[in-house]
Amino acid sequence: MFSYIWFIVILSAGSNFYCQGRELEIHLDENPPKSVTLMCMNLPYDETFAEWKKDGSFLPEQPHHRFSPDRKNLTISPLKVRDSGRYSCGSLTLKRFSKPIDLTFIPAKPSVEPSSYNQVVGQNLNLTCDQIKAPSVGVTWSRNDTRLQSKDRFTFPTNRILAITSLEKEDEGKYTCIATTKYGSTESDYFNVAIFFPCSKPSVQLQRARVNEHNNMSLTCQHLNGTSARYTWNKNGHRIIPSNRFVFLDRGHNLVILGVQRPDQGIYQCSAANAFGRETSDPVTVHVNYKSNTTWIVSVCVVLALLMCAVVAAAYFKCRKSIQAADK
Ligand SMILES: *[C@@H]1O[C@H](CO)[C@@H](O)[C@H](O)[C@H]1NC(C)=O
Ligand SMILES: *[C@@H]1O[C@H](CO)[C@@H](O)[C@H](O)[C@H]1NC(C)=O
Ligand SMILES: *[C@@H]1O[C@H](CO)[C@@H](O)[C@H](O)[C@H]1NC(C)=O
Ligand SMILES: *[C@@H]1O[C@H](CO)[C@@H](O)[C@H](O)[C@H]1NC(C)=O
Ligand SMILES: *[C@@H]1O[C@H](CO)[C@@H](O)[C@H](O)[C@H]1NC(C)=O
Repeated sequence: MFSYIWFIVILSAGSNFYCQGRELEIHLDENPPKSVTLMCMNLPYDETFAEWKKDGSFLPEQPHHRFSPDRKNLTISPLKVRDSGRYSCGSLTLKRFSKPIDLTFIPAKPSVEPSSYNQVVGQNLNLTCDQIKAPSVGVTWSRNDTRLQSKDRFTFPTNRILAITSLEKEDEGKYTCIATTKYGSTESDYFNVAIFFPCSKPSVQLQRARVNEHNNMSLTCQHLNGTSARYTWNKNGHRIIPSNRFVFLDRGHNLVILGVQRPDQGIYQCSAANAFGRETSDPVTVHVNYKSNTTWIVSVCVVLALLMCAVVAAAYFKCRKSIQAADK
């Protein structure tokens, strides 16, 4: 079984406290400790000497570093700003070192915590600068690397909160908070604010309201607002399932009907939806032009009737001629 090698850090600054395998922040503006003791724990018992590394290299001997005889305790006194860094201890013979801990003299890296991950237009948003331990740490905010001032819809209700009221599209961007002490400052990672728009009511756009049989037809679900909208289509109240004749393009924003057939005539509607709602268009009627059977039958009948008339007329005139000839 492997035993972990880990640390205890003791600050002797009146009250002792320790941390284990974590970041250790020392706020030099806050009554800093006179010394720090790093203890190498859980070395296998037959390992008599601990080795120390700082920022990946073996720790050089320094007058303000003191080791216990087994080198398992390292006391740094007096503490200097240049002692900040990443420390680990371990065993050379075992070739194993502890997880490092960071000794820092500036604020720990803050993080931005939003009051809501769904930043919907018109709503309010609070961004909190988190992970700040000392109240004396100052916080400033920036968007796209430009410092934000308290103005109009932007306020700072507390030292750590940026409050944005009635979100607008222009509030999109990369926000950071910066924690500052007189010894330096630390910036959070970017927090991306993306404004979502609920879908507004769509309308079905047709190239032509009448389409000839066997042609292709394209219908578009048009709408003004709606972030990452997805679309569904209905014909005569029934959901259209994409198929090789009903082709959905751009998540269904366009519906293309290939080789229109007579039953495709009907009433079409589309819906646009995202996480913030669904809206459905008014119905639109599509007519399919086709050569109907009745038209064909009527045409044939008319032609036949005309032919018969011609025959009858011809017979009549022929008859009359022969009667007139006989009369003479
Ligand atoms: C290491 O430091 C701790 C805390 O100060 C102490 O209790 C312990 O005896 C020390 N160990 C050695 C070997 O000096
Ligand atoms: C933002 O923070 C302020 C101050 O803490 C609070 O009054 C407000 O309700 C918060 N707003 C939101 C949207 O969380
Ligand atoms: C911030 O940058 C993003 C692109 O990175 C841009 O879309 C946004 O409009 C910018 N915001 C402001 C307020 O300039
Ligand atoms: C689209 O969003 C803007 C900004 O919120 C709003 O002013 C507008 O009324 C919306 N349009 C529609 C059709 O919903
Ligand atoms: C309909 O679209 C298909 C596929 O895009 C194409 O092959 C075909 O020629 C089109 N037909 C007509 C009548 O435009």
